[in-house]
Amino acid sequence: MRGAVPRYLAVGMTDLPDHDHWLTPSEAERLQGFPYAKRREEARLGRWTAKRAVARALRLEEDTAILRDLVIRNASDGAPEVFFDGRRAPMSISMTDRADWAVCTVIGGDRPIGCDLELVEPRSSAFVADYFTSEERADIEAAPHDHDLLANLIWSAKESALKVLRTGLRRDTRSVDVKIMSEELDGGWRSLYVTTEEDSVFTGWWCRFGEFVFTYVSATGTVAPTSLIDPPPLEKATPSHSWMAEPRRSPPAGPLGPGR
Ligand SMILES: CC(C)(COP(=O)(O)OP(=O)(O)OC[C@H]1O[C@@H](n2cnc3c(N)ncnc32)[C@H](O)[C@@H]1OP(=O)(O)O)[C@@H](O)C(=O)NCCC(=O)NCCS
Repeated sequence: MRGAVPRYLAVGMTDLPDHDHWLTPSEAERLQGFPYAKRREEARLGRWTAKRAVARALRLEEDTAILRDLVIRNASDGAPEVFFDGRRAPMSISMTDRADWAVCTVIGGDRPIGCDLELVEPRSSAFVADYFTSEERADIEAAPHDHDLLANLIWSAKESALKVLRTGLRRDTRSVDVKIMSEELDGGWRSLYVTTEEDSVFTGWWCRFGEFVFTYVSATGTVAPTSLIDPPPLEKATPSHSWMAEPRRSPPAGPLGPGR
């Protein structure tokens, strides 16, 4: 795969297969442990998306056997890592999902990256006051017509940056300050910058896809991510919440036998 070029794959819930044979028994067992369909289906979609993204980036066939051999494990801090044929693969990934869509970004080598998908949805002023820095709050107040877009974008970039730092929300969201740029630079992508309280500066990118915003942040690179599928499926994505109809639906059949 092309080393320092980030590639991403977005997959919707309707693309999920109705069986689990692409999972290893231990992955299937972990997923079957989730009591609620929402979390289980989000986690399944995340794994399906990540395995397919890695296979595509490595130019492997996306068949059931290969996808089963590509294992995504969470390190002790929660960050995802790729294993192929039982060995750690020389690549880095970041995963996110929102409203029945999942995205996985892949890059060669050991490079800290983070990505995050959010909806442009109402965010209260209390939310902004509690979680954002004074500079971020000033930027939002200066653009009242774009309040929800900016609030969700800044939030998304924070989550991406906290994935780069591998802390997630264990760390104060105000310890990273996001600056959003509005000038379109590269096929719909615009830049952003994240300054940490330790004075590191990460470069990032954001793109709006309908009701979604997607952010990508890297500690080492300056290149915008490109979709592993052309045209990018997110361009036609609409948010949904399929789990609401059957909150405790049984898991599908897979390597552990028929669904429970
Ligand atoms: C990272 C975090 C902010 C993402 O939360 P989110 O917005 O709800 O979820 P997203 O869909 O955008 O991202 C989830 C993915 O982030 C990744 N992730 C989780 N922890 C991560 C970390 N420390 N560093 C980098 N990536 C991480 C995982 O791949 C996870 O998906 P998976 O569990 O299916 O593998 C959140 O999971 C977090 O703060 N985790 C650390 C704290 C923690 O572990 N809490 C336990 C639950 S209370």
